[in-house]
Amino acid sequence: MNSKRGLWIAGNWKMNHGPKATADFFQKILTAPKPSRSVQVSIFPPALSLASALEAAHGSWISIGSQNTHGKPSGAFTGEVSAEMIKELGCSLSLVGHSERRQHFGETDRSCGERIQGLLTQAIRVLFCYGETKTERESGKTEAVIKTQLSQAFAGVDAALLKAALLDGRLSLAYEPVWAIGTGLVATPEQAEAAHAYSRQELLNLCGQDCAQAAKILYGGSVTLENAEILLKCPNVDGLLIGGASLKPDSFSGIVTIASSAL
Ligand code: PGA
Repeated sequence: MNSKRGLWIAGNWKMNHGPKATADFFQKILTAPKPSRSVQVSIFPPALSLASALEAAHGSWISIGSQNTHGKPSGAFTGEVSAEMIKELGCSLSLVGHSERRQHFGETDRSCGERIQGLLTQAIRVLFCYGETKTERESGKTEAVIKTQLSQAFAGVDAALLKAALLDGRLSLAYEPVWAIGTGLVATPEQAEAAHAYSRQELLNLCGQDCAQAAKILYGGSVTLENAEILLKCPNVDGLLIGGASLKPDSFSGIVTIASSAL
């Protein structure tokens, strides 16, 4: 159903790489060949390394995003960073709802919706993460979970803003089955394609065909140099969100090269 006009390869460093290691990473990776124009590349470093990453990647083919940004402009939210703060550094992209934020820091579909609304309003592009746990998959609830996560998060976003953002790429999705994150258990291409196709169908139900067709849906969960190509071949997989394999310049740039020749 979607036309795969481009791929997005993104690296989520989680709580790894301080400012110094970040500068070293970019020094190495920016010697790799520039990817084809149909591939966008991003890195999401920890908040403390954002400034270092933005400086090192300035003017390059890699954009930088925040792993977690609060939807409110300022206030009594100890430990959080705001859209204004990341924008001041030159960053206008953020993850929302990564499963580790949900699991360890109490993020819910509802709070994700509030963040998506707040961030889009403040001109931050969003990559929204969702996906089922092992128990949910094993009890046949994968589709029900996807449906709930998308509909509840999107319920918190102004309908016109939601549609516009899905259409023009300010809001993209990352399907990340929790059982595949950091476990080495990657979804099979069939499992990934089925979940992505279902997600796209849900986007159609919630926001209409144009949005469903235009929206990018990335796959995340134990992506490596070995499995990237086969996952990118799935018709409904528009890119990859990579944790562990994004930490080393060689493996991450290897995956970018695979994406460059995939379209
Ligand atoms: P992983 O992490 O590639 O290490 O499984 C993915 C993610 O957390 O986005």
